[in-house]
Amino acid sequence: MRIVVTGGAGFIGSHIVESLVADGHDVCVFDNLSTGNLENLSNVQSRISFVRGDILDLNLLQKSMEGADVVSHQAAQLEIFKASDDPLYDLTANTVGTLNVLKAAKEVGVKKVLNASSACVYGQHEGASVESQSLRPNWAYGVSKLAAENYGHLFNDYYGVPVVSLRYGIVYGEREWFRRVLTIFIRRAIEKRPLVVFGSGEQKRDFICVDDVVSLHRTCLYDPRADGNAFNAGSGTAISVSDLATLVAEVSFRESGFRPEILNENVSQGAYSALVTYKRRNTAELQSMWLSTEKANKTLGWAPKTALSDGITREFKWAESNMSHWVETHRSHVKHSNHEASKILVV
Ligand SMILES: NC(=O)c1ccc[n+]([C@@H]2O[C@H](COP(=O)([O-])OP(=O)(O)OC[C@H]3O[C@@H](n4cnc5c(N)ncnc54)[C@H](O)[C@@H]3O)[C@@H](O)[C@H]2O)c1
Repeated sequence: MRIVVTGGAGFIGSHIVESLVADGHDVCVFDNLSTGNLENLSNVQSRISFVRGDILDLNLLQKSMEGADVVSHQAAQLEIFKASDDPLYDLTANTVGTLNVLKAAKEVGVKKVLNASSACVYGQHEGASVESQSLRPNWAYGVSKLAAENYGHLFNDYYGVPVVSLRYGIVYGEREWFRRVLTIFIRRAIEKRPLVVFGSGEQKRDFICVDDVVSLHRTCLYDPRADGNAFNAGSGTAISVSDLATLVAEVSFRESGFRPEILNENVSQGAYSALVTYKRRNTAELQSMWLSTEKANKTLGWAPKTALSDGITREFKWAESNMSHWVETHRSHVKHSNHEASKILVV
């Protein structure tokens, strides 16, 4: 099949691209390189085509999708603070951008769209979230992703374009971008510094290895029973941030002989840490983000396979030899390309 992957130069998108190329598909990456980069695609560079463009550029999207059978839509703005500070910007990038992708897909007769959604559509919730529960996002980012998902349902039901949305938990693995809790723990362990847990560390998080996201994406690509659905893409379990720190400390000890100390710091929500000075604690922080995998398991027979300690060990090894990727910059400092400046590049 000819498959267009928006955001294919990013962390998750590049893993999806590699799996599609391995399956023998003709892949075109559509990306504005605002947070992604071509190095992420170095393993497949000679076997794909690349369009540098913005999903807000409907004409270029449509042109790039001509002849495509499937679109995998991974492009988005992911900055939680940026979304909260400027919800209109976030809505434009995530909801209008997705609407453009869906519209272009419909115009050119695409047979399926796979849409990257997020666990953030749930908002605060105790225990494992199931797809059928009520949705009340706590951040603007979750609102824009939920609206995008709903447009997906509309295009599936009303316009007849099969759309599947995957609600990712916290995706980790090789090529993960820096500044989230796991990446900060790993980097500090490699630098032989203490790991800093904000607050009590009882907050629970569902970490899913990128390989498992790719396997669910692949299942949904081929299985028509997925069409019209939203599925959680999580590990089915949740770990507290304190236990995550302990796990990273153990991995570090096993891999490098250094067991970092674990410190707790009382950082108010929205404030910067005094110990990890570039990191600001989230506002309206989720007490628990935990995804049930039952629906994907019952409907599609999918289950995640990677144990967290194995996945973290792999990411630790990758990070050790790729520290230059993990600089202490804020993702929102990244310049977003102006869609007027989009141009076609083939790599
Ligand atoms: N990483 C996670 O844990 C996580 C969790 C939930 C949902 N998601 C979703 O997964 C998708 C991929 O996330 P990721 O972690 O790989 O992020 P990423 O930043 O590594 O990848 C996003 C890619 O999209 C590109 N992009 C951004 N805006 C664009 C635009 N307007 N036009 C064209 N390209 C654009 C970026 O250059 C980048 O290559 C996103 O839709 C995100 O919302 C990710």
